[in-house]
Amino acid sequence: MKITFIGSGYVGLVSGTLLSFLGADVTCCDNNEEKIQALQDGKLPIYEPGLEGYIKEAVIAGRLRFKTGMTGDADVVFIAVGTPPLELSGEADLSYVYDATLQAAQSYSPDTLIVIKSTVPPGTCLALQSMLHKNGFEHSVASNPEFLREGSAIEDFLNPDRIVIGFSNEEAANILSKVYKSLVDKGFAMLRTDPTTSELIKYASNSFLATKIGFINEMANLCEKVGADIDSLSTGMGLDSRIGSAFLKAGPGFGGSCFPKDLLALSHIARTYDQPCHILDAVIFSNQNRCAHMVSKISEAIGDLRGKTICILGITFKAETDDVRSSPAVDIVQLLLSKGAKVSVYDPEGAENGAREIPAAEFSEGAYASAESSEAIVILTEWDEFKRLDFKRMHGILAKPNIFDFRNILDRDALESLGFNYYRIGG
Ligand code: UDX
Ligand code: UDX
Repeated sequence: MKITFIGSGYVGLVSGTLLSFLGADVTCCDNNEEKIQALQDGKLPIYEPGLEGYIKEAVIAGRLRFKTGMTGDADVVFIAVGTPPLELSGEADLSYVYDATLQAAQSYSPDTLIVIKSTVPPGTCLALQSMLHKNGFEHSVASNPEFLREGSAIEDFLNPDRIVIGFSNEEAANILSKVYKSLVDKGFAMLRTDPTTSELIKYASNSFLATKIGFINEMANLCEKVGADIDSLSTGMGLDSRIGSAFLKAGPGFGGSCFPKDLLALSHIARTYDQPCHILDAVIFSNQNRCAHMVSKISEAIGDLRGKTICILGITFKAETDDVRSSPAVDIVQLLLSKGAKVSVYDPEGAENGAREIPAAEFSEGAYASAESSEAIVILTEWDEFKRLDFKRMHGILAKPNIFDFRNILDRDALESLGFNYYRIGG
């Protein structure tokens, strides 16, 4: 089966590579020439654990290649370009999806199925289909949303909770069933539905997960007031199988290229249909206030931030990625800087992207260098290496022994016995 991906970012590159691993002949296209050149030179434009090995193997086997232009033939073209939020409304910007779909129709025969992997509002596939028909193209457009978490995208792709396909004709369903045959044969569930429902499943799933996080973060605030412990609370709730333990970890707020954007987009969609979703609006509001709350926790403990040096450990929106898009850590650093603090950041993979976003912060090569003469360490990403730091050594390096563990990854007793003032989330 011949497959082309248009858009070779986090989603397109992982999905294309793994479909080639599952046996397809895959071409990954992107209009970013630098990205394609890097991939052709064997360099990875993103950090995703394990991906490099899969790419190398598939390229050597001749099942995977990278191109800027859309050429050749294909049974399926997946569109995986970005759908960023428009500045004012939060509405998804579909211009890249429209352009890429039209270009795909112009470049491939009418038998080629066009599949939208990008996250798009309900009704988009049907609208794209009529746009193509109006322009004289007969291609079918189907929906197949992605559910890949950065950092564990390979695991998520190869062991999906479900594969969702949305289609308007059986021919499209047959082609998509062939694409995912090896996963379905292994017993992974495939939900077959119409394109509009498929599109909404993606938004509703991400919004529900974000709601769980928003909820537990507010419970963490309450724990601090009533003298309860958020981690035990979360465990206690999660043991109820109707609730489940996933996505119940309190932190500095959810970020990344999906949750914040998808919530805004779904809220906008709901208002467009005069059916506002008040829960979504509350989650958006709650998460937008989270960073300011984190900064006030720091200033309540150490006083006026002007002139103080703060060491930030972790700038990415979660561990095991180099992605800083909508990272709460970036917002927190910006707030600290606006309050007159000096900020020194260390992140194992996110320094390059982070420095581009916040040039006023200083980036260090390691955690100890970053902590040198700081008045506090603030942990914002749950990288494993932060759990293994030598805190005795840190104590000697810091100007003041303050630790704000906003991912609750360290042991309070151990740190307090070393003489640290230890602050965490939720008691
Ligand atoms: C994807 C989805 O497409 C998005 O809708 C979903 O919600 C999250 O995942 P992601 O892979 O994370 O986005 O985005 P990014 O890493 O920015 O990749 C998009 C790629 O498309 C970029 O490499 C960009 O250069 C490319 N692109 C964009 C094109 O090739 N053509 C375009 O017209 C626009
Ligand atoms: C998300 C979806 O999970 C995935 O299915 C796909 O649609 C893309 O978007 P991703 O953004 O890569 O994946 O990461 P995810 O693991 O979902 O985390 C999102 C944010 O929530 C991160 O900032 C993370 O730190 C935060 N989070 C997650 C918490 O604060 N607590 C949790 O319990 C889980």
